[in-house]
Amino acid sequence: MIFKTFRGRFVFVSSAVVSLLIIVFAIFIYSSYSKALMEAIDRSLLLVAKKGSAGEAASDPNISVELLKIANNEFYQVITRQGKVTIAYLESNYPWPVNRKLIDSALKGLPQFETMTYKSENYRILYYPVDADTVLRARKSQESFDRAVTELKRLFLFSFPPLLMISLILGWVFAGKMLDLVRKMKLLAEQIRQGKWDKRLALESYGKEINELGLILNEMVDNIKRSMESQKRFTADVSHEIRSPLTSLRGNIEVALRKKRPPEEYEEVLRNNLSDVIRLTRLTDNLLFLSRAENKILALRRQWFDVKHMLESVIEGFREKAMVEGLAIIEDYQNELELNGDIELLEQAFSNIIDNGMKYTPRGGSITIKSREEGEVVKISVSDTGIGIPEDQIPHIFERFYRVDREQSRRLGGTGLGLAITHWIIRAHNGEISVTSTVDKGTEFTITLPKLTEISI
Ligand SMILES: Nc1ncnc2c1ncn2[C@@H]1O[C@H](COP(=O)(O)OP(=O)(O)O)[C@@H](O)[C@H]1O
Ligand SMILES: [Mg+2]
Repeated sequence: MIFKTFRGRFVFVSSAVVSLLIIVFAIFIYSSYSKALMEAIDRSLLLVAKKGSAGEAASDPNISVELLKIANNEFYQVITRQGKVTIAYLESNYPWPVNRKLIDSALKGLPQFETMTYKSENYRILYYPVDADTVLRARKSQESFDRAVTELKRLFLFSFPPLLMISLILGWVFAGKMLDLVRKMKLLAEQIRQGKWDKRLALESYGKEINELGLILNEMVDNIKRSMESQKRFTADVSHEIRSPLTSLRGNIEVALRKKRPPEEYEEVLRNNLSDVIRLTRLTDNLLFLSRAENKILALRRQWFDVKHMLESVIEGFREKAMVEGLAIIEDYQNELELNGDIELLEQAFSNIIDNGMKYTPRGGSITIKSREEGEVVKISVSDTGIGIPEDQIPHIFERFYRVDREQSRRLGGTGLGLAITHWIIRAHNGEISVTSTVDKGTEFTITLPKLTEISI
């Protein structure tokens, strides 16, 4: 059951790893410690044997006895190749069989060791070659070794359960802490499912990565909320924009049909209707453009073109309107300035900006268009001496359907989508667009385009 939960699994795995580490560590310590102890015993036996077998010592039991005092009264024998004991010190009654195999091996020149048990006590025994036919045998109790090793084993055995316990507890607490955030995320998801879009995760000190995850989640909820709201607003705006020309069309037609009229009046009605239809067409065209742009199915058709020619051809379309409305167009271009981009889209972008300049500039004003090369970029500015934009509204004018004065914009044939489209076109060319404006003084749009850019859609 417990393994079904993440917490259970985590505690199990972490404790298993900790146990394994403790066991490996214990085995390592145990083996190197006991090896070192055993080597110390062997070394002391060898030392005694070396002295005991030097010169006459091997044949003179008295000298040997002196020597063996150094060796803590340990057992000591001299044995022939055939296994006959010639000299013995501290000989006891207990059987102490001679290991013929070890005698033979020792006589080949290498000291041999063995461990023997007598009356449940362990002894370390050394066979040490004296000459071609004699071996010296020495014995040392392993008691202190056995005690130390047993002590070590006990230490490991007793410390293992508390260590395992600590690892279990720490694992449990740590997993709980991690799951705390998961629980909170679950709760948040639950609340959001119920439509509580203003709920967010409260982030505590979970550690950098976890906090980052929480932050991303919060931002994600923010984004979804924002895009849902903007979607709602957009739908409402679109319906509104479509509704007003349709209402006006319907009203016109109904009035026209109320009674028989002379042909001139019908013509008048049709002319009015045409302007509403044009408005609707423009709106749907713009909406279509934005939706294709957003769905990334609008590809840039790039080519090299002369900036001055492009701007001149855009201005051409406004000359007549400027004359009628009493506006001056001032042009200040840098010659031989080339750009790589989609000329049709860029013409549309500049046309939108210039159109705005003309719409929002009273009679007698002027529109100035400038182009300049600045290092790797081309800067094109469009400034007017018009009504300006209040500072707090500037950040919003690139939003779809945002208009400072909706009625005025509509009267002037605007859909409120022009700048949104322009913004998208400039961004698609990796460019930037910025605005500075003073109310009643004028507005300046500055577009910065890199001369050569990778296609960004
Ligand atoms: N040159 C300008 N002078 C004053 N206001 C401007 C200017 N250009 C844009 N605006 C404001 O920004 C809004 C959005 O512009 P735009 O998207 O082109 O919509 P539209 O031209 O259809 O009204 C306009 O309604 C207007 O309020
Ligand atoms: Mg416009």
